Amino acid sequence: MPRLHINIDHVATLRQARRGFEPDPIAWALEAERAGAQGITCHLRKDRRHIQDADVVALRAQITTLLNLELSLDPEIVELSLTSGADEFCLVPENRKEVTTEGGLDVLGEAGRLALVIPKLLAVGGVISLFIDPEPEQVRAAAGSGAQFIELHTGSYSNAEGLDIPRELRRLSEATNLARELGLRVNAGHGLNYLNVGPVALLDGIEELNIGHSIVSRAIFCGIHDAVGDMKALVAGADGIA
Ligand code: PXP
Repeated sequence: MPRLHINIDHVATLRQARRGFEPDPIAWALEAERAGAQGITCHLRKDRRHIQDADVVALRAQITTLLNLELSLDPEIVELSLTSGADEFCLVPENRKEVTTEGGLDVLGEAGRLALVIPKLLAVGGVISLFIDPEPEQVRAAAGSGAQFIELHTGSYSNAEGLDIPRELRRLSEATNLARELGLRVNAGHGLNYLNVGPVALLDGIEELNIGHSIVSRAIFCGIHDAVGDMKALVAGADGIA
């Protein structure tokens, strides 16, 4: 069964809507841990649209599960990440105009910058994951990059309809198998929700799911404990929570 890591960016987005102090994403993360989250994920974006530098420091000081920091290859963000104390670094593409992370990292196209950044992150002791689309050529490139993990982008699966759903699930499964044959470990995330998470959680070899938007959205209605608990039950193989 994969571990459930919860992305708290959307709590910070709500706070930043007023540039104030509430809701506090750190307090929310701590409550998510009490509800069963096995890791906390956040993305320090260049434009600081949600998570702020001080949030990363406070998370590191206060959470007791794993801290997974998503970052782009931007030099300023890489420098900040090196002193963050994060347990995991997930390298993602970033485009200022996007609403959320669109598509995976082009590991082949970014080979030069990755070759500079990955050794620096390895030197501070975290594990590294590359957020990629479930494409065989990206998986192969990741295997030669020095990163220990990939995180498969589940956005195409999450957006799929009809017969495209099993086709997208097959792509995720094949990418997972290929990655493991090549010695990589595999996480997954993006767009997963209470209706679509089950089949992904059942894929053999996926170690961690990173889920944010759907859990934060559900928590608005029924609170953090039910939102996290229901998702954990689904990841563990329960069906029928909608
Ligand atoms: N994984 C990565 C690398 C992401 O960038 C995101 C979105 O920030 C997620 C997982 C979580 O996606 P969602 O909020 O759609 O669950």
